[in-house]
Amino acid sequence: MVIEFVDLKRQYQPLRGEIMPRIEQVLNGMNLFLGENVYRLEEEFASYCGTRHAVGVGSGTDALHLALRAVGVGPGDEVITVSHTFFATAEAIVLAGGRPVFVDIDPETYTMDPSLIEGAITPRTRAIVPVHLYGQPVDMDSVISISRKYGLSVVEDACQAHGAEYRGVKAGSLGDAAAFSFYYSKNLGAYGEGGMVTTKVGEIATRVQMLRNHGARERYQHDLVGMNARLDEVQAAVLRVKLPHLDGWNAARRTWADEYSRRLSDLEEVVTPVAQPYAKHVFHLYVIRTPERDRLQRWLKSHGVSTGIHYPVPVHLQEACSGFGYSLGSLPETEAAAREILSLPMFPELTVDEVAYVCQTIRGYVREKRGRRPRGVPSSAARGVAAG
Ligand SMILES: Cc1ncc(COP(=O)(O)O)c(C=O)c1O
Repeated sequence: MVIEFVDLKRQYQPLRGEIMPRIEQVLNGMNLFLGENVYRLEEEFASYCGTRHAVGVGSGTDALHLALRAVGVGPGDEVITVSHTFFATAEAIVLAGGRPVFVDIDPETYTMDPSLIEGAITPRTRAIVPVHLYGQPVDMDSVISISRKYGLSVVEDACQAHGAEYRGVKAGSLGDAAAFSFYYSKNLGAYGEGGMVTTKVGEIATRVQMLRNHGARERYQHDLVGMNARLDEVQAAVLRVKLPHLDGWNAARRTWADEYSRRLSDLEEVVTPVAQPYAKHVFHLYVIRTPERDRLQRWLKSHGVSTGIHYPVPVHLQEACSGFGYSLGSLPETEAAAREILSLPMFPELTVDEVAYVCQTIRGYVREKRGRRPRGVPSSAARGVAAG
């Protein structure tokens, strides 16, 4: 059996009849930017997230960058975030003029360990960027209470968390502002690039509206130096067709996550993801952990199963971040996770046979591995290594 990591064609086929006329409508009107689809999508997405404002931008990276600028991050400011994330989280902080300060993760959730935030605060700290990685919200009560105590802004990186909830409240409405990505493989994906900033604060929304459009309050009146970061009408039209399906797709992802976890739960060599009681996890990614990750990945590939690693090199160890004062050993939980995590195929249109095949293949690998192990030597997961 061949199983792709994400098969977007299966989502497109049943929606084709709805999507193509909407795209044609945009092209017939030739109003390609900041038109009816963008403005309607902004209203629909704000309402979905339970927030007051949403501003469509060119990508998730633009959303983070412009949200950070809109809350006031600028040159010399420090922004606390995690290194276990996609590079764009830190990149956006640098683009806004700030300096990323990384705290380690909780090895159970792979998200920011809030108990480490206070130790990272300095007089230059301006904001915190919690990343709801893999679709699970960060423990936001702790983040928000620290931000209030020190007067810091909170910008959620919700790029992997469309529809996720923290204590019944949607991601995107938990901080001062939030950034979403509509990269094509996200839980809500466009057919090109796209992103959204959500916020309850009118002033932040207005600043992002200006910043995405060259800092203009009105045409040819530029109050700020912004950039060209507009969401286009074709992408907005596609996203408006898809948004009403998001909850159903997330429910399917959660079903497949349960199915994987149930079928893998008895394997001591494999650590399955843990959804926290406060979280509605929407499983953008289903990430297991195992000490011989690379070997398992090759085994799965040789049996037709594509997987991913999110992410193999932590941000603080990237060449581009070499000036920020981190080195190997700075963030032990982040570094250990990067060595052992593996993302299994995850998309709403998976079938039970496919999930079963992936799990059988992993079981086949474990049998082969146990055969290799000298008798009486427990696996490293059983010794506690895999649990970090
Ligand atoms: C956690 C995280 N932050 C930021 C981004 C950046 O989003 P985009 O690729 O739309 O610029 C992504 C998307 O890949 C992401 O996963």
